Amino acid sequence: MKTHSIEDAQYAHAMGHLLVLYTQVDQFIMEACAERMASAPDLVAKMGLAKQVGDECRHVMIQKNWMREFGVDETPVIDRQAMERLHRHFRSLDWVDFLTDLYLVVEALGSQAVEQVVPLADPGTRESLRVPLQDELDHVAFGLSELRKALDAMDPVQRRSRLERIPTRIDAVFAMLQELDVPVLDWFEQVGTGSRQLCDVLDRRREELVTGLAA
Ligand SMILES: [Fe+2]
Ligand SMILES: [Fe+2]
Repeated sequence: MKTHSIEDAQYAHAMGHLLVLYTQVDQFIMEACAERMASAPDLVAKMGLAKQVGDECRHVMIQKNWMREFGVDETPVIDRQAMERLHRHFRSLDWVDFLTDLYLVVEALGSQAVEQVVPLADPGTRESLRVPLQDELDHVAFGLSELRKALDAMDPVQRRSRLERIPTRIDAVFAMLQELDVPVLDWFEQVGTGSRQLCDVLDRRREELVTGLAA
């Protein structure tokens, strides 16, 4: 498979935007997890969030250093009002919905999308994603284990109704992200990840996550 070089202007432009987006999302997650810490249900959950805040902070620093070296235009791709809307959304959620929206969609499906660009990326970008993507596996594992714990603590009727709502929640988060009007699929195409292929990978991952939770 041919990897890209940062000399390729269209690639550099699109990858630059994807890196800015990834960094903004990591910073968003860092803030959202920090805000949740005080109200998390137990010490294990609080410690998981605390570790994640540290990890996301490191990711933001790694990405910012690489973007500077890469010469990326760091203008945010999600504007401040939209970021604030996202924060309001996550603040309004109870613990189970927070876990669903943040870990199933933003962390699990988001990092799955980032994984797709790694084999095609230039060596510097690939290296900048190595540590963050490794940590994202821990974050997804934490979110899934907390979600399972919360679901298992419910009575069977409540548990089933929460589980049944998960696919609708995932769709709603995707719809909310689409409203941000960020041409993320175009950027994926421009770095060599076909949108059809990307959507198939995300559909499969989504199916696996939902089935895994119900098991
Ligand atoms: Fe991250
Ligand atoms: Fe993460």
